[in-house]
Amino acid sequence: RSLKAFNTFAVDQRARYFAAAHNDEDVRDALAQARRLDVPLLPIGGGSNLLLTRDVPALVLHMASRGKRIIDESAEQVLVEAEAGEPWHPFVLWTLEQGLAGLENLSLIPGTVGASPIQNIGAYGVEIKDVFAGLTALDSETGIIREFSEDDCAFGYRDSLFKQQPGRFLILRVRFALRRQAALHLEYGPIRQRLAEQGITVPSAQDVSRAVCAIRSEKLPDPQQLGNAGSFFKNPLVPAAAAQTLRDRYPELVGYPQADGQVKLAAGWLIEKAGWKGFRDGDAGVHRLQALVLVNHGLATGVQLLDLARRIQVDVLERFGVSLEIEPNVL
Ligand code: EPU
Repeated sequence: RSLKAFNTFAVDQRARYFAAAHNDEDVRDALAQARRLDVPLLPIGGGSNLLLTRDVPALVLHMASRGKRIIDESAEQVLVEAEAGEPWHPFVLWTLEQGLAGLENLSLIPGTVGASPIQNIGAYGVEIKDVFAGLTALDSETGIIREFSEDDCAFGYRDSLFKQQPGRFLILRVRFALRRQAALHLEYGPIRQRLAEQGITVPSAQDVSRAVCAIRSEKLPDPQQLGNAGSFFKNPLVPAAAAQTLRDRYPELVGYPQADGQVKLAAGWLIEKAGWKGFRDGDAGVHRLQALVLVNHGLATGVQLLDLARRIQVDVLERFGVSLEIEPNVL
């Protein structure tokens, strides 16, 4: 089965076996089937954080479960739960329609609810872990369904237990603690400015969501039109002294000081400065509006995209002495 429609890079590689899961039973069945076939089980959601460099010798399980609900409204926070296969952005819009705030900064991120904790999705100053209230997953090693607290998940920047142990836990549903009384995060550069431009002085969560959608649409390519997996590299963390040395050389360097004293550099800035923005070799390219995003102009293979990524990594290391870590899962 071709996976072209199941990865946002639209890379045409095949799965040895393929199944879809609509509920917990389907997931269990797929696990049993993978055991019988003696192949690994590879769950995929929207395939929006995935680079396929070859055919996948596994049982690929498309997580297609649906359902979202408010499960507890008694406290100040409102607990919401959604099934793993729920598409992320429509889920965010649904929470906003329910009058619930907390996910507005995470609007328009591709992918599914079940994938969101794996890389601790984040944007515009908010990460999943900030609103995370637990998840339910099937342990593929023991066959037992387990509950995970925030601590269990070991969230970090674009990182979690699930990213560290790929394939071990099959996420079935995720819970979020949201609020009726919005506590908005407007610190991240363009948001406040965007709202001000529209004359909005006291924004609602919905206003913030609309602003985030507008900002993202301007910079980030729509995977339906141009294959991509969002940021292809993490923003690198460097010691403060290293950042200062670079800033002496490049006063316009973009970096954000972290609580631990390190500085998170804007990888997009480094890649653009190195001259890669808009670069294209065959159908593998660097987005012309956001240098952190690799794009498939049509028929690029995963190997070609990975090769381009490696060239960028080598060049950025040579120029700036900074190592860029690839963000999506490369298979
Ligand atoms: N920049 C450039 N040139 C570029 C791209 C960026 O100079 O080509 C500069 C910008 O001018 C800005 C800074 O870099 O000063 C940051 O850029 P931006 O706000 O676009 O965000 P980012 O650091 O490139 C991160 C996340 C995105 C997330 C945005 C907004 C990572 C790896 N990426 O990108 O997440 O949407 O911030 O919060 O942390 C993703 O993970 O797939 C993703 C899209």
